[in-house]
Amino acid sequence: MKTGLVTGGTRGIGAAIATALRDAGYRVAVNYAGNDEAAARFAEETGIAAYKWSIADYDACAEGVAKIEADLGPVDVLVNNAGITRDVMFHKMTVEDWRAVVDVNLNGVFNMTHQVFAGMRSRRFGRIVNISSINGQKGQMGQANYSAAKAGEIGFTKALAQEGARFNVTVNAICPGYIATDMVMAVPEAVREKIIAQIPVGRLGEASEIARSVLFLVSDEAGFMTGSTLTVNGGQYFV
Ligand code: CAA
Repeated sequence: MKTGLVTGGTRGIGAAIATALRDAGYRVAVNYAGNDEAAARFAEETGIAAYKWSIADYDACAEGVAKIEADLGPVDVLVNNAGITRDVMFHKMTVEDWRAVVDVNLNGVFNMTHQVFAGMRSRRFGRIVNISSINGQKGQMGQANYSAAKAGEIGFTKALAQEGARFNVTVNAICPGYIATDMVMAVPEAVREKIIAQIPVGRLGEASEIARSVLFLVSDEAGFMTGSTLTVNGGQYFV
């Protein structure tokens, strides 16, 4: 039985990924940073243990992953899913808005992957999936911080894929489009309607549709797929 760890795993896309992994027979742990109530509800409903720390904090990541590995065994699958937004036009963006998003969405990917990569390498198996975004591919007004961090994840994916390949450690990115989660629901309704009008399939995506893509990428059968960016956006943007 393999062990999977999903960051930001108690809500939205992360929760869908965690439960899909559990249903596919993985031992699963999730990390979360802030919402204790949602985490308690998630843990009760799914039986998946939720561990609290901020992925923006390197030492907290080292401690958190060590605890999970003591509880469940070495991490075979890491899904870097946790992410935040601080949407604001650039001329009004503060340095705090910039740093908060880059610290979680990009530095968090380093902080987490760094804890597990050497072990995966030495065990000759690993699957790392980075949940980037359509807005890392196309850019998005109001998201200079988020788009930069999400594009950074794609570069990180391509570089690390080259390092992991010889050791059967694959590193891939998924770029979800607009998915029906709390994050997208926080976009002002009038703006959200405009966005949905730009999606050829005519609706927001479901978190489960991203989870299914993750299941494929982490499977043993996907060993020849690494460094890729899987685009799952309802046709909103073609790369
Ligand atoms: N698509 C189309 N039009 C958009 C847009 C978008 N994503 N974002 C803003 N606009 C439009 C607005 O509708 C508005 O147009 P009108 O003047 O014709 O009404 C114009 O741009 C200016 O927007 P606001 O009046 O809202 O200006 P503001 O300064 O109050 O706020 C903003 C600007 C912060 C960018 C706000 O519009 C906003 O939050 N937009 C959403 C940005 C976005 O798409 N965020 C993605 C969040 S979900 C996510 O990040 C997950 C993921 O990976 C996809």
